[in-house]
Amino acid sequence: MAGSRRLYSDLAYLWPLVSPPEDYAEEAGHWKDAIRDRLGEGRHRILELGVGGGHNLSHLTSDFEATGVDLSPEMLEHSRRLNPDVEHHVGDMRTVRLEKVFDAVLIHDAVAYMLSEDDLRAAFVTARAHLRPGGLLLVAPDLVAESFEEGRVLRWDIPPPSRPGAPEVEVEERLTDPDPADTTIESWITYKINDESGRRVETDLHVTGLFPLATWVSLMEEAGFETEILPLPGDGDGCGEHLFSGVLYRRWQDRRRSDSLDARLDWKHAIDQRGAEEYR
Ligand SMILES: C[S@@+](CC[C@H](N)C(=O)[O-])C[C@H]1O[C@@H](n2cnc3c(N)ncnc32)[C@H](O)[C@@H]1O
Repeated sequence: MAGSRRLYSDLAYLWPLVSPPEDYAEEAGHWKDAIRDRLGEGRHRILELGVGGGHNLSHLTSDFEATGVDLSPEMLEHSRRLNPDVEHHVGDMRTVRLEKVFDAVLIHDAVAYMLSEDDLRAAFVTARAHLRPGGLLLVAPDLVAESFEEGRVLRWDIPPPSRPGAPEVEVEERLTDPDPADTTIESWITYKINDESGRRVETDLHVTGLFPLATWVSLMEEAGFETEILPLPGDGDGCGEHLFSGVLYRRWQDRRRSDSLDARLDWKHAIDQRGAEEYR
């Protein structure tokens, strides 16, 4: 079951209100640094799979040449308005083939909709198909298995309406894992909306994937990426704290099969290596 995902269809008009572009500025700075650190200076060609409303991407378009793909035409409409110079395509990150090559592929929170290891593999193969050798894959799931907490309720931090008459929205999300033996969890979301047509409550269900850090790293390595885990500031709820960075091996034989997985999983070690100050 994929859930109703109304936030990306009939309720997509809420997206800029409940998750405004400004909220992505700090995190996008880390994405920019990760790209610059690995690819150097230059107006690199970047592709975001699952670009959604393009809120994260909007902070990267002045530095890079961007293309966006998403399953939802409604979400792409938001991104087109916000990012008029970006090329947009409707497509599924597991199967889309643009027949173009980029310097970096980004997959932000949309990667949550990869429900199985096969879905994740397919998304990483799509990334590889769109990268030059030595290109960069950045992936940032909201949640990993290590930070999941059964029954947690998230109250979205939404700014007050920016102008009189704009809808007021409150969002509450409850995370639950009905079957801990599989790789999916559920988000039951309630939207309380107060607008010119009155007050109402809408509900939504999102089924998303949940994988341990070791799975992320080993599937990225399997797809041909030399992978490390970088810390992100997160939102204080244990969400959005990991950025997986993978550089596409120039030759398949170069993959670091023999490295200890534990060594690569220790992101604190990664911070020490990169200089703790850089990530404060
Ligand atoms: C939370 S939104 C992304 C928001 C985005 N990070 C932003 O900055 O606006 C998640 C997006 O994933 C997209 N999505 C879900 N499954 C997908 C798939 N298989 N391929 C491409 N996009 C997908 C949804 O349509 C939705 O727009």
